[in-house]
Amino acid sequence: MLLEARDVSKSFGSFRAVAGANLFIEEGEIVGLIGPNGAGKSTFFNCLAGDMPVTTGQIIFDGHDITRASPEAHARIGIGRTFQLPATFEDMTVLENVMVGAFLRYPHRDDAREHARKIIELTGLAAHASNWARSLGTPGRKRLEIARVLASKPRLMLLDESLAGLTPAELRDAISLVKRIHEMGITLVIVEHIMEVIMTLTRRVLVFNQGHVIASGKPEDVVRDPAVIAAYLGHGHVPRRG
Ligand SMILES: Nc1ncnc2c1ncn2[C@@H]1O[C@H](COP(=O)(O)OP(=O)(O)OP(=O)(O)O)[C@@H](O)[C@H]1O
Ligand SMILES: [Mg+2]
Repeated sequence: MLLEARDVSKSFGSFRAVAGANLFIEEGEIVGLIGPNGAGKSTFFNCLAGDMPVTTGQIIFDGHDITRASPEAHARIGIGRTFQLPATFEDMTVLENVMVGAFLRYPHRDDAREHARKIIELTGLAAHASNWARSLGTPGRKRLEIARVLASKPRLMLLDESLAGLTPAELRDAISLVKRIHEMGITLVIVEHIMEVIMTLTRRVLVFNQGHVIASGKPEDVVRDPAVIAAYLGHGHVPRRG
């Protein structure tokens, strides 16, 4: 088991944003995490990535208890995450942003730059390498986030709506990028509202509602689950697999 999150809760005051969530991920999986706005998906990612301390629960990664570890320790052990609102360094170039990720594995500047260039090539950002990050639109920033995380050589990537707000053509490119990342041997958890993305990329889906997992299984089964339809999808949703 690569990741075991047991009975994880995160409270803000008396409000439990994550309420006893369990998540178990095998190495090599690509898992979808869906659910309505405010269900606690991003908060759960914050807990898994060490960006927020959990209130209760335990998180084990590759046999190590990382429940109380810092975000830096999470990155070092191989957990990388993107943010729903891209966290780019605006006054740095695209290449420099990716180098921030690369420095985790390559302390020497030239090595970090060389590695970052490879990642920039892989993620389709080569034409923008020397542009300011602030010159990118939302789709570019989302891609840059993926590139920065990828440059840190994660074993597990948590993508928080990294494919949202794209045109159909950009979405196709982004889906093939995620597939390439998966083929590199990286395990993925993908939070996404676009069901087409979930149906195309994942073989297993968990549905979050009010801070915990209310359903899990194959995407084609989960979208037919009455509890999932009631909490999230609504009626009239037509499941597709791309
Ligand atoms: N730092 C915080 N302080 C207080 N409440 C918070 C904080 N972060 C999140 N919340 C609340 O926790 C709940 C879960 O939010 P979260 O962002 O995790 O949901 P989500 O499932 O990611 O939703 P979306 O699909 O809209 O991104 C929401 O009610 C939100 O307002
Ligand atoms: Mg969110």
